[in-house]
Amino acid sequence: MTPDQPSRPITKAVIPAAGLGTRFLPATKATPKEMLPVVDKPAIQYVVEESVRAGLDDLLIITGRNKAALEDHFDHHWELEQALEAKGDLHRLERVRESAVLKVHFVRQGQPKGLGHAVHVAKEHVGDNPFAVLLGDDLIDARDHLLEEMLRVREEKGGSVVALLEVPPESVHLYGCAAVDGRDGDVVRITGLVEKPDPSEAPSNLAVIGRYVLDPSVFEVLEHTPPGRGGEIQLTDALQTLASSSEPGGGVHGVVFRGRRYDTGDRLDYLKAVVRLGVDHAELGKDFGEWLDDFSGQRASGQR
Ligand code: UTP
Repeated sequence: MTPDQPSRPITKAVIPAAGLGTRFLPATKATPKEMLPVVDKPAIQYVVEESVRAGLDDLLIITGRNKAALEDHFDHHWELEQALEAKGDLHRLERVRESAVLKVHFVRQGQPKGLGHAVHVAKEHVGDNPFAVLLGDDLIDARDHLLEEMLRVREEKGGSVVALLEVPPESVHLYGCAAVDGRDGDVVRITGLVEKPDPSEAPSNLAVIGRYVLDPSVFEVLEHTPPGRGGEIQLTDALQTLASSSEPGGGVHGVVFRGRRYDTGDRLDYLKAVVRLGVDHAELGKDFGEWLDDFSGQRASGQR
């Protein structure tokens, strides 16, 4: 941080979960995609746990229509808890309570007008504090420490920080894409951002993934950000403005992530996430891994 920007510890995390989840229909017609189970927990619980591990325990989930299950999941379920207690099933009781003891707040987006709009809805809760944004369907493996590294970069450089992933050039049109310079290991300075570019116009193969540490000046920028690609208010467009701003709070850096990420909002990536986290699961991993090897062997020999 520069001397005129005193360091403030970051405690707030915003988790947008108000999207329509159209890529996963019909599963997401009545169930939020963030509540789809990944092995034995809903996707959003992994995201909440990641945030708490990084020291951000003041959580705000942005919800919308059809998202009541999210609020129920992060609340107590007294009948269930009493039934498990009566049966003496303390292991399951503990697992059911895990998600209810966290400090989780909710606000509704009203209309899903895009990720930038969803983040702006958090303004009142966040106030004039830097904060993290974690997308509710984007999982980072618990063994990797992306968010901690992003918080460190914000502390050192100020401004905002985004997570970047090197993707094959033919996939760049699925993401926000960054133009960068000033590379220092896995930390880059971002000079521009473009949402879902045509591969021939992409400034790099560095894609923005669902982790951000944002300066509160982003709210002011979002207020003046018109709908962009897809008619949605894009967070990428607001970050593009901040990247070229020399105002206090301006400037955007990127952290290139080389760890394990699971995009559970996409059907194929969701299946991969279940398998990858399933084989690592403390209770199920051994049996599941053996079954998977057997199944793969059968497929290879044409028995399936
Ligand atoms: P996505 O683009 O992945 O979500 O947004 P979506 O719109 O639900 O997906 P599809 O394309 O229709 O399948 C990334 C994140 O931003 C949230 C989503 O819930 C997801 O966590 N989001 C998106 C909002 O909260 N509000 C919005 O208006 C849009």
